[in-house]
Amino acid sequence: MSRLKLGLMLGFAAIVPQTAWSAEPELSPAATAHAAQWPVAHWPWRTDRKIEARIKHLLAAMSVEEKVGQILQADIASVTPEEVRRYHLGSVLNGGNAGPGGDDYAPAEQWLKLADAFYDASMDRSAGGHGIPVMWGTDAVHGHSNIIGATLFPHNSGLGAMRDPALIRQIAAATAIEVRTTGIDWTFAPTITVPQDTRWGRAYEGYSSDPKLVTSYAGPFIEGLQGKPNTGAVLAGPHVIATAKHFLADGGTAQGRDQGDAQISEKTLRDVHAPPYVAAINAGVLSVMASFSSWNGEKMTGNRSMLTDVLKHRMGFGGLVVSDWNAHGQVAGCTNASCPRAVNAGIDMYMAPDSWKALYTSLNAQVRDGTVSKARLDEAVASVLRVKLRAGLFEAGRPSARPYAGKFDLLGAAEHRRIAREAVRKSLVLLKNQGGLLPLRAGSRILVAGDGADDVARQSGGWTLSWQGTGVTPAMFPGATSLWQGIRSAAASAGGAATLSPDGSFSGQRPDAAIVVFGETQYAEFQGDLTTLRLKPEQRGPLETMRKLKAQGIPVVAVMLTGRPLWTNPELNAADAFVVAWLPGSEGAGVADMLLSPAQGKAPEFNGRLSFAWPATARPDGPVLFPLGYGLTSKVPGALAPLSEEPGVAEVAASADLYLAKGVAGPGWSLEARDEGGSTRITTVPAVSAGGRVAVTATDHVVQEGARRFTVSGSGTASVAITSHAAADLSRQTNGEMLLVATLRIDQQPAAPLHFSLGSGAATARLDVGQMDALPVGQWRRVAVPLKCFRTAGADMAKVDMPFAIEFAGPGSLSLSEVRLGMEADVTLNCAKGG
Ligand code: BGC
Ligand code: BGC
Repeated sequence: MSRLKLGLMLGFAAIVPQTAWSAEPELSPAATAHAAQWPVAHWPWRTDRKIEARIKHLLAAMSVEEKVGQILQADIASVTPEEVRRYHLGSVLNGGNAGPGGDDYAPAEQWLKLADAFYDASMDRSAGGHGIPVMWGTDAVHGHSNIIGATLFPHNSGLGAMRDPALIRQIAAATAIEVRTTGIDWTFAPTITVPQDTRWGRAYEGYSSDPKLVTSYAGPFIEGLQGKPNTGAVLAGPHVIATAKHFLADGGTAQGRDQGDAQISEKTLRDVHAPPYVAAINAGVLSVMASFSSWNGEKMTGNRSMLTDVLKHRMGFGGLVVSDWNAHGQVAGCTNASCPRAVNAGIDMYMAPDSWKALYTSLNAQVRDGTVSKARLDEAVASVLRVKLRAGLFEAGRPSARPYAGKFDLLGAAEHRRIAREAVRKSLVLLKNQGGLLPLRAGSRILVAGDGADDVARQSGGWTLSWQGTGVTPAMFPGATSLWQGIRSAAASAGGAATLSPDGSFSGQRPDAAIVVFGETQYAEFQGDLTTLRLKPEQRGPLETMRKLKAQGIPVVAVMLTGRPLWTNPELNAADAFVVAWLPGSEGAGVADMLLSPAQGKAPEFNGRLSFAWPATARPDGPVLFPLGYGLTSKVPGALAPLSEEPGVAEVAASADLYLAKGVAGPGWSLEARDEGGSTRITTVPAVSAGGRVAVTATDHVVQEGARRFTVSGSGTASVAITSHAAADLSRQTNGEMLLVATLRIDQQPAAPLHFSLGSGAATARLDVGQMDALPVGQWRRVAVPLKCFRTAGADMAKVDMPFAIEFAGPGSLSLSEVRLGMEADVTLNCAKGG
């Protein structure tokens, strides 16, 4: 009570010298939309008098605090049910790396249990609230893809190749049911982006670069998830609330940079990126997520002309606009802790994973001092309540008591897998078929090679169980079928046989044909951004396998796992047949269906057509080899003249993310030992620092001399540092939750606490990481510190010329083999010790 009073007084004092709108900077003309030039959509939801009366009644009764809580969404990793009760939070989400009890891989029962706990907390009125049911959002972006055992549908770039809106509707309907088994109400799908540059790490989340194709899918997908508007409460049927994302031009950024800037005219913004939203609004999509990205230098999340004037007023969108993961913190003039501009621009709910509490405080103050008007707050709350009421959340009861809840046999149900398998079959695109090699005839002896052949995680891509889709094990995919498993059983039932040999070697009988699986490995968001359209060097191994097999006269079928078109002329040359499998998901058997003829019945026929143009070089703006819409049918033998193997771009050298590899400084970085004598650059070993206190020797890790051992003697500080003359910008990686990971071994326990440092000059953060006594001496461990800890401790993440230093305050010895940015570690230190 007294805190509240104080807040009021402070708020009042703050308002005196300034007007309510002074916090709103003007948008630049280039980033100001002219709403009258935009299309009009037809919001189909009829105004419901009962719902409107209920909203009015609630708004009149709710306190400002309760209203502010209603427009906040917290991540389950950073909020408890008790806090949902106390702060009256309107929504929770699970980010890609969050799960019940901190376990991303928790079984479905735990998700449902947690949904009940959040719901019960939201309905509890003991903290003075009105018992408004909380709404839970999840990224069910290719099936209920955070949950073990769910059906994993192909990612969207593959679905685009089917050109089958009816199947899209079925995929969405099956996904909705699987989401409902876990008691979750809301999915952040479909992504109706129109990617124009496939270097973007999210290109695979887009159906196509063609606005028409994306538009043809938006409505059916949304209806598949939500059902038809005005047919009763969404949650009364087998449905969930949908989200059209990310508004607008997430796929139009310069160089395909994730969260970048779309430097395009208003006409392009409107004609290329907006058409799918018209379809989404016409289908009654209940939420739209604002894009992280900018348009001509202004973040969408703060662009009132776009969110309010265009989306709500002109296009008539009547659902709620949710912002993206801490995107508000990137708006000019804002931080994660405070951003009145977002709600003033038209955001109705802040996705504030770990920043919700600070926002709760700042928004309450901003409403009191008028920076955010009461009218605008009411409008945002009304949007949230309207969605909840249309969904039927107020009547739905506990999540576990709702239809489909707890029916876990529906997760990965046979019928859903059948739909997914059909989608896989229809999405495959045949680019070459020399001599009509495909489909392989029944009875063939098939060699299956390539490192991606037996890997469900890899064929499922990012947003699969974990955010990046990495760090998972085969056991986490019960009921799924890898490409290899599919081929093995198809070959056997057609009277032939298949053998798995990742490197393509075989003994004994020569195979009739080889299938070599190759392509991209998992990634999500900016971690998938590329500078050229080329597979990474470590992904090019299977090409050699193809060449070897071809040299032995064995016909080769190349099957590419990829989220997007990439330059593959060498593979196209080396293979007799080439199939783009995209990221097919859990039903690898769908690929086998298309590669092999059955013993009896009709041979399969390819129908998929490219959803994006296929490049002739690795240059992003280079010529096209196969245009959008291209795809062979297996009836016509598709020969292909030899292609140039000149990529047209230089290999990209230094990665900004790798500082030390095999004990040696990465390209552009140097390794130094420092003591009272100064800094000594370590190029060869053994070496000793200038003052003689740091001895550096080679030691083995994975490979011979794959690490360096540092032995510090004497008293006073001494350190090992990785530095460069050119500073790296790590702000994106910091916002993206990346870790600084050192693969190290303690050889002799340090006598005093160690410090890890990162930064540049005065803006260097130094964190106390203790004596590493939790680490077993003599054993290698990947030890990580979240990048954001360094930011919190004062590092300027935009200018880092020393990404890593380890400082001793006394004797000790440790070995280092690798230092990099990454997502995985054995031990992750928390920020608490920083100082
Ligand atoms: C992504 C969204 C996603 C959200 C929640 C963001 O980083 O851009 O697409 O829905 O996280 O996981
Ligand atoms: C979350 C994702 C989110 C991303 C944003 C991750 O930690 O799990 O859901 O999209 O951060 O950068």
